[in-house]
Amino acid sequence: NTSSQDALKQAVATAAVAYTLSRIDDKSIVGIGTGSTANCFIDLLAEHKASIAGTVASSQASAERLKAHGIPVYDLNAVDEVTIYVDGADETNPHLELIKGGGAALTREKIVAAVAREFLCIADQSKWVDHLGTFPLPVEVIPMARSHVARELVKLGGDPVYRQGVVTDNGNVILDVHHLHPISPARELEEKINNITGVVTNGLFALRPADVLMLGTAEGVKTLY
Ligand code: A5P
Repeated sequence: NTSSQDALKQAVATAAVAYTLSRIDDKSIVGIGTGSTANCFIDLLAEHKASIAGTVASSQASAERLKAHGIPVYDLNAVDEVTIYVDGADETNPHLELIKGGGAALTREKIVAAVAREFLCIADQSKWVDHLGTFPLPVEVIPMARSHVARELVKLGGDPVYRQGVVTDNGNVILDVHHLHPISPARELEEKINNITGVVTNGLFALRPADVLMLGTAEGVKTLY
């Protein structure tokens, strides 16, 4: 991470807070993602915490950061609606299809995205790609199915690598699948991988892409729909 990349994340997080405030009222629950860009968003949102009813978090790490700011964090089952979900990504293409899960939080991220009325993705320009798949695709797997799932991923043309030493918030393991680039159509691969027995979910967000993307670039924050 360069300091200019950090500046882009700050700029995009600032724009995302303004956008979020325009979409919510004091009864709104805001979904919060995971990673360094989401952390910028959390820290800036803290200045406006009176404007929201609370949050749901896509990871333990983000929940702890929110609580440290005195922002309420609710169990997803305890809320009726998530007005907007704000999260980073590891890659995004022009269709706003994403690869996520670099921080191993993909399953909870996908659940919050599924519930949210609107999904705002925030990223610096290093995440922008024409075609997904240069970033290895994270797949969350039930531990006893790891070898089986790895063999099935090889049949799909990928090269799965076990992420050593990582256990997800759900007690599972991660396989990072290399050499899938270019992933197209992404929705098809997302479905195929999710159909492998033992897979919890994969990091493709194509069946439910982002609704809005704020991309931090050297020319300023670009908003794409
Ligand atoms: C977490 O599992 C990922 O989906 C993150 O959204 C992703 O890794 C982005 O992180 P940065 O904002 O730190 O790049």
